Amino acid sequence: MNLKGKVAIVTGGSSGIGLAIVLELARQGANIVINYHTHPKAAEELEKQVRGLGSHAIGVQADVSQIDDLRALFSQAVESFGRVDIMVNNAGVETRSSILDTTEEQYDKVLSINLKSAFFGTQLAAQQMIKQGGGGRIINISSVHEDWPMPGNTPYCLSKGGMRMLTRTAGVELAPHNILVVGVGPGAVETPINSATMKEPALLKKLDSAIPLGRMAKPEEIASLVAFLASDGASYLTATTVFVDGGIMQGSPGL
Ligand SMILES: NC(=O)c1ccc[n+]([C@@H]2O[C@H](COP(=O)([O-])OP(=O)(O)OC[C@H]3O[C@@H](n4cnc5c(N)ncnc54)[C@H](O)[C@@H]3O)[C@@H](O)[C@H]2O)c1
Repeated sequence: MNLKGKVAIVTGGSSGIGLAIVLELARQGANIVINYHTHPKAAEELEKQVRGLGSHAIGVQADVSQIDDLRALFSQAVESFGRVDIMVNNAGVETRSSILDTTEEQYDKVLSINLKSAFFGTQLAAQQMIKQGGGGRIINISSVHEDWPMPGNTPYCLSKGGMRMLTRTAGVELAPHNILVVGVGPGAVETPINSATMKEPALLKKLDSAIPLGRMAKPEEIASLVAFLASDGASYLTATTVFVDGGIMQGSPGL
C-alpha cells in the first residue's frame, strides 16, 4: 500500500476519524490538505506530525457546508500540490433530535454539513480529477446509519442515507473516468462525537455489550480501511459501502 506522490483532501481532518485518516494517508506517503473548521491549533499540530512522517501538509480553514469555501479549499489544494487524487468527505455532525422535535435550523445544519458538503465535495473532486486525468478516489465517511435507523437521531440518519445514494450514483456516473467512489460505514468509534457516551460508564458498558467484537473502534481502525480504499489494491471497488462496525449490524451477541 503506497500512496507516494498522491494528494489527498480530508474534510474535518483535525479531530477524531479525520485526524487518524490524515496520519495514515501521510504514513503511506500522500501529501495532505487538512481541512478544519474551528480549530487552527489542532490543524497546525497535525501538519507538524505529517511532516514528521515525511509527507507535506497544509491546513485550510473552510466551512464545508458553504460551496464557496469548498471551492477555495480545492483552489488552495491545487495551488499548493498541483492536483487532487483522493477526496475524503469526512466532516460530520449530529443533533440527536427526533422526528417529533427537530427544528428547521437543526435539520439544515446536519444536512448541509453531512450531505451537501459531500455532494459538492464529490462534484469538485471529480471535476479536478477529470481535468488532470488518470482517475481518482472519493471516499465518503458514512455510518451504519446510512442503512440502520437510529430513533432520536433522524436528521443524521437522513444525511447518511443520502450519502449512501450519493456514493452509489456518483460511483456509477464517474466510473468511465476511473474515479472510484466508496462509502465507509463505521459503527461506534472512540471520537469526540461520542464523548457523552464515553464519559458515562453505564452507557459505555451497554454499548460495548451490543457490539459482537465487544468494544468501540479506535479511529485508526477506520483510517486503515480508508488508506486501503485509496490504494491500488482497491482498484475494483466502487459505488458501494464497506462497513467497519465490529459486526453490530448483524445483531448483538446473545440475542
Ligand atoms: N464516531 C463515530 O462513532 C462515528 C460513527 C459513524 C460515522 N461517523 C462519522 O465520521 C465522521 C467524523 O466524525 P468523528 O467521529 O471523527 O467526530 P469529530 O467530531 O471528531 O469529527 C467531525 C469533524 O467535522 C468537523 N466539522 C464540523 N462541521 C464542519 C464544517 N461546517 N466544516 C468543516 N468541518 C466541520 C469538525 O470540526 C470535526 O473535525 C462524521 O462524518 C461522522 O458522522 C462517526
